[in-house]
Amino acid sequence: MLRLADVSKSYGEREGRVVALRGASLEVDAGEMVAVMGTSGSGKSTLLSIAGAMVEADAGEVTVAGVPLEGASARARAQVRRDLVGFVFQDFNLIPALTVLENVALPLDLDGASRASARSEARRALAVVGMRERAKDFPDDLSGGQRQRVAIARAIVGRRRLILADEPTGALDSVTGDRVLGVLRALADEGSAVVLVTHDARHAAWADRIVHLADGAILDAARASRPEQLLTGEAR
Ligand SMILES: Nc1ncnc2c1ncn2[C@@H]1O[C@H](COP(=O)(O)OP(=O)(O)OP(=O)(O)O)[C@@H](O)[C@H]1O
Ligand SMILES: [Mg+2]
Repeated sequence: MLRLADVSKSYGEREGRVVALRGASLEVDAGEMVAVMGTSGSGKSTLLSIAGAMVEADAGEVTVAGVPLEGASARARAQVRRDLVGFVFQDFNLIPALTVLENVALPLDLDGASRASARSEARRALAVVGMRERAKDFPDDLSGGQRQRVAIARAIVGRRRLILADEPTGALDSVTGDRVLGVLRALADEGSAVVLVTHDARHAAWADRIVHLADGAILDAARASRPEQLLTGEAR
């Protein structure tokens, strides 16, 4: 579903140049949940932004659901972003003036879906995260965990096949964090490819596979930890 091969990316120029990724490679299958771990500044968010067609790589190959992104037109990239990819960010990015249902339906509205079909698809996504009964509330009426679940509903509305989550549990207590992870896990079990960036080994343990990003590159897959090794403290 997602293939990154030898991807490089730097920001800025000359003395100010920062290399964020240097030859990073990663493949994530449909139905698979992969956790990406690494120290601050190792390139995790950059990797997700490139995988989600938000940022263009300087070099390397990026393919989402068989669509190559390198050299694709802005329009083609926007289409991938819209049709295939769902993002979940640490700060929920919900719009306070819209209800829960309107927030979730927004990507479909922007796509030009009919109002009725956008609403019914949004209700379905809210049901997945257990928030359907809060459809008429506003984001300010919700707890942090509930807001994050709404943000996940918005990310999956329209059945995105690739879900990219950048520390989605950062602001949450452990119980609500687990609930959010459970939702991401269920999405993978239902066939989406899920990439989860996290600093927390217990959260990474929900994934099928954990990869480590260091200095802009994914460490050798053969050295990647299995979730159960992390839990028993014998990682790498
Ligand atoms: N828009 C940008 N402009 C300039 N430099 C950037 C930009 N985005 C990221 N960088 C730099 O690229 C490197 C990788 O950043 P990135 O945000 O991908 O790291 P990260 O692993 O997500 O870190 P964190 O765990 O702190 O979120 C860092 O050195 C960062 O300062
Ligand atoms: Mg980051």
